[in-house]
Amino acid sequence: MDPFVFFGGKGGVGKTTVSCAYALRCARDGQRTLVVSTDPAHSVTDVFDQPFDDSPRSVDGIGGLDAVEIDPEDEVTRHLDEIRQDLSEQVSASMVNEINRQLEMAHGTPGAYESALFDRFIDVMRNADSYDRVVFDTSPTGSTLRLLGLPDLLEGWIDRLIHKRRTSIDLFEKAAVGNAEPRRVMEGDPVLARLQDRKEFFEFAGSALHDDAAFFLVLTPDELSVNETERAIVALREENLAVRGLVANKLTPSPDPDETGRGGRYLRERVETEAARLETIRSEFDPPLVAEIGWRSAEITGDLLADVADELDIETAAEQPTHV
Ligand SMILES: Nc1ncnc2c1ncn2[C@@H]1O[C@H](COP(=O)(O)OP(=O)(O)OP(=O)(O)O)[C@@H](O)[C@H]1O
Ligand SMILES: [Mg+2]
Repeated sequence: MDPFVFFGGKGGVGKTTVSCAYALRCARDGQRTLVVSTDPAHSVTDVFDQPFDDSPRSVDGIGGLDAVEIDPEDEVTRHLDEIRQDLSEQVSASMVNEINRQLEMAHGTPGAYESALFDRFIDVMRNADSYDRVVFDTSPTGSTLRLLGLPDLLEGWIDRLIHKRRTSIDLFEKAAVGNAEPRRVMEGDPVLARLQDRKEFFEFAGSALHDDAAFFLVLTPDELSVNETERAIVALREENLAVRGLVANKLTPSPDPDETGRGGRYLRERVETEAARLETIRSEFDPPLVAEIGWRSAEITGDLLADVADELDIETAAEQPTHV
């Protein structure tokens, strides 16, 4: 299995539960594992009944497992602050107010959230040397993946910006001929350094996600979730990312044969409908069903998490990363 594993899916289907269960299983199999959550509802904290924050902390009682909880709202603020910082060093004081105004507006724009999270995911991947496996609770959405679909375009765009910046610095340096000391500013130019940095960032993101990441989708056996899963498989495929497997969660338990009352009939009907949906998935969807997890009567924490971990037919042995 690739070093980076993502679990995506619709709201509430069990992404956090399955990510934590898989991470637990990897850690049990001797992989140094980090589980990364971006859930504003702090679910990793709930699952392990222990507070987590922005920096990795070890999960009590489970050797080799760390967890980190990234707050998307903080991430957007940090991301925009970095841009603000970067820009204010480059421009005249009179521009700074205008930049601040633009950035305030950017805070609420669609995509700011996802783009900040995408950056943070990639950042975690770049700094994951001390782990064999990093499990992400939530795969990048269609719109963040589109960033990946544009590597050539982005690279071409950044290359052109780099070229422009070089040309203008070159002119600036030449304009100084005649002075005693020629101006040398190409080296150490902060704008060039920043552009170069972004270029490398996207190159890394592309190769890490294509060569070293596996994507799984979690679904519940209802029509909305199944349709959404189908769309997600297509969206990922469009970015040349194959979904490795599907995890069906919250399956209705079968009643005992002697339960012939209303409750029994209700469960039996549901079980049948769900079985038909799962059959459709098996026969029509490319990625295999790698787990069928029953609906428990309680929240999945503690021992229940270990049970769910046993039900995942997803291998844990870590492959060497190729992106390094
Ligand atoms: N198989 C299951 N049986 C019973 N409860 C479950 C099962 N799987 C998940 N749950 C419960 O359902 C709720 C939602 O699960 P979870 O938080 O894992 O979903 P999610 O996809 O991460 O949700 P969100 O989109 O809000 O982040 C939780 O309370 C969890 O304990
Ligand atoms: Mg969640």
